[in-house]
Amino acid sequence: MANATDHLWMHFTRMSSYRDGEVPTIVRGEGAYVWDSRGRRYLDGLAGLFVVNAGHGRTELAEAAAKQASELAYFPLWSYAHPTAVELAERIAALTPGDLNRIFFTTGGSEAVESAWKLARAYFKRTGKPTKHKVVSRYIAYHGTSMGALSITGLPGIKSDFEPLVPGGIKVPNTNFYRAPEHGDSPEAFGRWAADEIGRAIEREGPETVAAVFLEPVQNSGGCFPPPPGYFERVREICDAYDVLLVSDEVICSWGRLGEYFGAQRYGYQPDIITTAKGITSGYAPLGAMIASDRLIEPFLHDSSMFAHGITFGGHPVSCAVALANLDVFAREDLVGHVRATEGAFRSTLEKLTDLPIVGDVRGDGYFYGIELVKDKATRETFDEAESERLLRGFLSGALFEAGLYCRADDRGDPVVQLAPPLIAEQAQFDEIEQILRAVLTEAWQRL
Ligand SMILES: Cc1ncc(COP(=O)(O)O)c(C=O)c1O
Repeated sequence: MANATDHLWMHFTRMSSYRDGEVPTIVRGEGAYVWDSRGRRYLDGLAGLFVVNAGHGRTELAEAAAKQASELAYFPLWSYAHPTAVELAERIAALTPGDLNRIFFTTGGSEAVESAWKLARAYFKRTGKPTKHKVVSRYIAYHGTSMGALSITGLPGIKSDFEPLVPGGIKVPNTNFYRAPEHGDSPEAFGRWAADEIGRAIEREGPETVAAVFLEPVQNSGGCFPPPPGYFERVREICDAYDVLLVSDEVICSWGRLGEYFGAQRYGYQPDIITTAKGITSGYAPLGAMIASDRLIEPFLHDSSMFAHGITFGGHPVSCAVALANLDVFAREDLVGHVRATEGAFRSTLEKLTDLPIVGDVRGDGYFYGIELVKDKATRETFDEAESERLLRGFLSGALFEAGLYCRADDRGDPVVQLAPPLIAEQAQFDEIEQILRAVLTEAWQRL
């Protein structure tokens, strides 16, 4: 096989880090495990990239793809329809909260986010509020990499090379309660404050200029920030008061990740738009979607009006067929119910790690967790740039992988280890994750 570093341009990868070493190359998957080209087995602690929710090696999903490709490989959704897109849209609409009944298919998450921002602008132009165009999102949140989605993303480190970006991306505080000591031990007061910051940002910008607020149910980047109690309730009130759309970016948090089909259902709020991708096919083919409420499509249903937006491969027949087969697996095996039944065990297994001096916080919901690493547990002091570099890049990621666990050590906020295993994982996998993390984090602490 050719060397992975010769021609392949890897995503978000320091190419130089493989100058003297081999690129880990994954060749096969089965259930919650993957194997590399050396024949070694790894527990997939991140479901690929929050994607393979139904687990690896499902031949029925592969067969659904083959069947559809032989019957009708491709046709666009531009003025035409094909049966799998129609059926999938109907299936999704039946699962979404409230009147989120319109499914605009894309090929992935960035395009779903991009589509949502475009819809918010076009909707307000058609309904007498043409100056509403800005979007509010949270610091450190990741919403994708295309220029619009990147504007919504709150990570300066991945934006600066590409500036100037699309104007109008306004940032507000996220819900990192662990780093909000001024709110003492009241998550409710913190949640109220964080939600009200959105209102204050809208006031500052001028409500007549703000179109939408983009929030993940649980913010991934920064290491899993669940919403404090009352947060989304208050955000919904604020959005209603200023006629600003609430977009729930569920590219990670839908399809069972949080023990419901959609994250908004887990926390009991009603968005105007849901953006999704990843687990919708469990990764057996690429697909994303923007799911909009009845109110938002209404202006596009009459006369010559049209949402002037489309993507050649959005709603690809093969991807839609795979998504339908994936939803069959979800229903037959009750994967969503399995997450609800076992998430408590996953949490308590991970919480055993809090006896280690380097583990500051274990947070998340469902099958979606971040473990924050600290230099001093009592003061919550974090690592400086050099320590973080040495610890995360120089040691942790590689050591966890060598020990048989694929997951992610991330320092886009404070240093965290992120975990999101396939939804079929059970106690045996929770234990394996805990044991590998315990051994590797103990060694990391000794090295410090
Ligand atoms: C919340 C969220 N939004 C958007 C995206 C972008 O999705 P994609 O990589 O499919 O373009 C991601 C990707 O991880 C995400 O987590």
